[in-house]
Amino acid sequence: MAVNKGIFIEKKNRHEAIVMATGYDSAIAAMEEEAGVDIVLVGDSVGTNVLGYQIETEVTMQDMIHHSKAVSRGLKNTYLMVDLPYGSTADPFIAFENAQLLQDAGADCVKIEGWGENKQVIEFLTGKGIDVCGHIGYNPQKHGPRAKVFGKDAQQAGELIKSAQTIEDAGAMMIVIEKVPSEVAALIAKKCRIPIIGIGSGFDCDGQVLVINDILGYGVKTYKHARRFMDFRTLALGALGNYCDEVRSRKFPSEENLVHIDPLEMPKLTS
Ligand code: KIV
Repeated sequence: MAVNKGIFIEKKNRHEAIVMATGYDSAIAAMEEEAGVDIVLVGDSVGTNVLGYQIETEVTMQDMIHHSKAVSRGLKNTYLMVDLPYGSTADPFIAFENAQLLQDAGADCVKIEGWGENKQVIEFLTGKGIDVCGHIGYNPQKHGPRAKVFGKDAQQAGELIKSAQTIEDAGAMMIVIEKVPSEVAALIAKKCRIPIIGIGSGFDCDGQVLVINDILGYGVKTYKHARRFMDFRTLALGALGNYCDEVRSRKFPSEENLVHIDPLEMPKLTS
């Protein structure tokens, strides 16, 4: 994609909020671009939101490649970030191979979970010219599917601040910070030169990211950190119910949906 990552630092410096949303398929990605989303993230949340997995650790490189290609086909000039899934960053060389596969699938940037323990991997990838985003706070790949808040006490908040600085020093161009008290996220956004994108981490971050299913209201579950900007589930259930009724009552299809054989041809079939 022809998006220069420099625009995100510029936005931070101008205090313009950066908008990120997850996307898992081409049609929604195209809508996200049309709506003006700055960054589409193919998160490993594709596993639980689309693929019916129980937990992010089930997501494979093949899954990420498949969905990255789909999303990439839907985007013309929006920055595409893709998660390196569980087990794909075991060492810098493996991480590099996998990051290249994601780049080939359309990624402009790869996101890596971890509180600084992946410093060497990030240094290696950025040294090879790959854009990397860190991800601190709640890390589903490490902490499991039950989200919890990190950084409620000074010691853990201090660890988060230190890890953000480690990740920035390793060359990352952005950090996602998930489920961290807003005061701590604000401090991190102030201390780092690179943009800090929050999810469940308050409004003083340099931008926000949400899962597309939560923005559109696909699911039954609601989350404190998210807001439904529409109730897709209710609208979709209504539409599907109408479809079922109209098929069963033979109201659908109707004349406008039909195609007809040439009237001169029909007698040849029945005679
Ligand atoms: O996978 C994902 O959706 C994410 C976001 C929660 C940031 O990593």
